[in-house]
Amino acid sequence: MDISGLPARRAALKLLDAVARRGETLDQAFHNAVQGISADADKALARAIAAETLRWQADLDALIDSATRMPLPEDAKARMVLRIMLAQWLRLGTPPHAVVATGLALLTGGPRRLAHGVFSTLTRGGAALPPAPTLPPFVAARWGERAPAIAAALGEPPLLDLSLRDPSETARWTAELGGTSLAPGHVRLPRGDAIERLAGFADGAWWVQDLAAALPARLLGRGEGRRVLDLCAAPGGKTLQLAAAGWQVTALDVSERRLARLRDNLARCALDAEVIVADALEWEPEAPFDAILLDAPCSATGTCRRHPDVLHRVTRDLIATMAQLQSHLLTRASGWLAPGGRLVYAVCSLEREEGEEQAAQMDLALAPMPVQPDELPADLAPTPEGWLRTDPGMLPGNGGMDGFFIARWQR
Ligand SMILES: C[S@@+](CC[C@H](N)C(=O)[O-])C[C@H]1O[C@@H](n2cnc3c(N)ncnc32)[C@H](O)[C@@H]1O
Repeated sequence: MDISGLPARRAALKLLDAVARRGETLDQAFHNAVQGISADADKALARAIAAETLRWQADLDALIDSATRMPLPEDAKARMVLRIMLAQWLRLGTPPHAVVATGLALLTGGPRRLAHGVFSTLTRGGAALPPAPTLPPFVAARWGERAPAIAAALGEPPLLDLSLRDPSETARWTAELGGTSLAPGHVRLPRGDAIERLAGFADGAWWVQDLAAALPARLLGRGEGRRVLDLCAAPGGKTLQLAAAGWQVTALDVSERRLARLRDNLARCALDAEVIVADALEWEPEAPFDAILLDAPCSATGTCRRHPDVLHRVTRDLIATMAQLQSHLLTRASGWLAPGGRLVYAVCSLEREEGEEQAAQMDLALAPMPVQPDELPADLAPTPEGWLRTDPGMLPGNGGMDGFFIARWQR
């Protein structure tokens, strides 16, 4: 029996356990889970299995429950293993014999016999998943009438979006990379090759950044040598945009580890920024800034296509804690603007407490500066309040986008 792929499946189980039991993100759990695995392809497979399982968990459970007399307990190892077996077969196209060999080896005794029986019943019966994943009830209720569109977008892993260092080269890179462009400076590619092998990577002609994540920095326009504070900057997609747009950038973040990636990206793209490791709740600038971009820490539910763990981790408490932190950060940042200076606030969250309610409640000594339709890619429009709200169900048929909330003020 070929069980050469067993370590990847073990690692997938460890990832799912870290999300379910310890509330960790896939990113946080990854390093520990893949320890001892040397091949990058096996590490990527472990992550893909875990991500597909998290995306489709309710539907995989419904299939499992349809093939057992008594429902298996939520945390039974046989259920965990069956989830990853079904995710491989139904989502990753792994042949059933390979799924069985690598899945049953994770179990012994009765649970092993049970998993074998359930999987055989489902494969014989030609089990299938619905067209879109069933969302966990907590997020489905919160996302209301947008929930079906978001669920449909969640069914497919997102495409690869690039931001170009030089937006005047959009046509050239779109053609050279074989992609499409939804805005100047943006190229969208199918998922496939390792990004390091794509043309332009080594020269720093572009960096990976979701289309929605690229919108906040665009709303500050060209820098013409003026000073901008990128507050909560790591891993640095927006720092790169601002530096490429001619701003003199101060990039601040509390995480040294995440800032190491920002420094690597600056070096690769031959762009410059002052990098500061500090807690924004304590740090004070020496002089005011012409612009501030606050891309605040948040529940990150807007990135659920890329990080499906968030669907299972987000709680009312997490949203409330994040909203309080964002409110402190916004209040502090608003005091650091020079007259005429602009503040852009962004969160990759779908939650109103972190977005619309945050912007509406803020009693900043600043004037709202509504987002204008001509500042946005086609098919996107500001809200009546002059904010921007995106979600993964937008641009359907065109690859979707992350969920962001963005608001802008001027002093
Ligand atoms: C949404 S991410 C920023 C993404 C980044 N702007 C980009 O475009 O790549 C939020 C960041 O806030 C940082 N952060 C959280 N609390 C902070 C604090 N008190 N002070 C400074 N940075 C903080 C986190 O380390 C994280 O890197």
